[in-house]
Amino acid sequence: RAAPLVIAIDGPAASGKGTLAKRLALHYGLPHLDTGLLYRAVALTLIDEGSDLDDTGAAARAASALSAERLSDPRLRERAMGEAASRVSSVPEVRAALLSWQRRFAENAEGAVLDGRDIGTVVCPQARVKLFIIAAPEERARRRHRELLGRGEETTLAAILADIRARDARDSSRAAAPLKAAEDAVVLDTTELDAEAAFAEAVSIVERLKAA
Ligand code: CDP
Ligand code: CDP
Repeated sequence: RAAPLVIAIDGPAASGKGTLAKRLALHYGLPHLDTGLLYRAVALTLIDEGSDLDDTGAAARAASALSAERLSDPRLRERAMGEAASRVSSVPEVRAALLSWQRRFAENAEGAVLDGRDIGTVVCPQARVKLFIIAAPEERARRRHRELLGRGEETTLAAILADIRARDARDSSRAAAPLKAAEDAVVLDTTELDAEAAFAEAVSIVERLKAA
């Protein structure tokens, strides 16, 4: 039988990696894990229990005790949760606890699609396909703004752009598993591509890598 097809997708906030990951998973009949949700769920646990987001001990405990039910909480998608997730995600013990969860998900007979910040570099360094999705910060801010407005969350474009720049800086500069393209990742710039065009481009990259 064919070797499992693991597709690792990384990139900054609102680059379109989640939308792309979902579509690729559907197309190839593979399970999909949005790994950002794990970090968001750790942050939400701290908020719910009244712990400080900078309490690394509480964050490590929340990560080791994380349950799958937490991942469907609608509050995880709120704007403030992306920022909170980014803060807890720099704690090495949090990353270690979530690593085994992510590896278990990726290691199955048919394969999987995972999206996040360190999938190609840390979680699945052996993935057959690695995509690194980028887009101009202004375009990413417009996308996230539209998305939040659609969900009834009131924010300004300027506030979102500031969020995105702060999160890019924090995620790229942290010591533990910073956001960066794996050496063997294919970089896909979606600034000028809608979700459909990005998907078509990604499928052609996957097909090329599968055949190689
Ligand atoms: O969708 P968006 O890119 O805005 O956020 P997300 O993917 O849900 O990730 C939220 C935060 O979790 C990021 O800013 C990262 O700091 C962190 N994260 C991470 O460190 N490693 C991952 N594999 C996924 C997310
Ligand atoms: O997962 P990530 O934070 O990278 O981004 P996303 O949640 O997949 O995408 C953010 C928003 O941009 C969604 O509303 C998408 O429909 C839209 N979008 C996209 O995903 N891909 C494009 N090439 C253009 C827009």
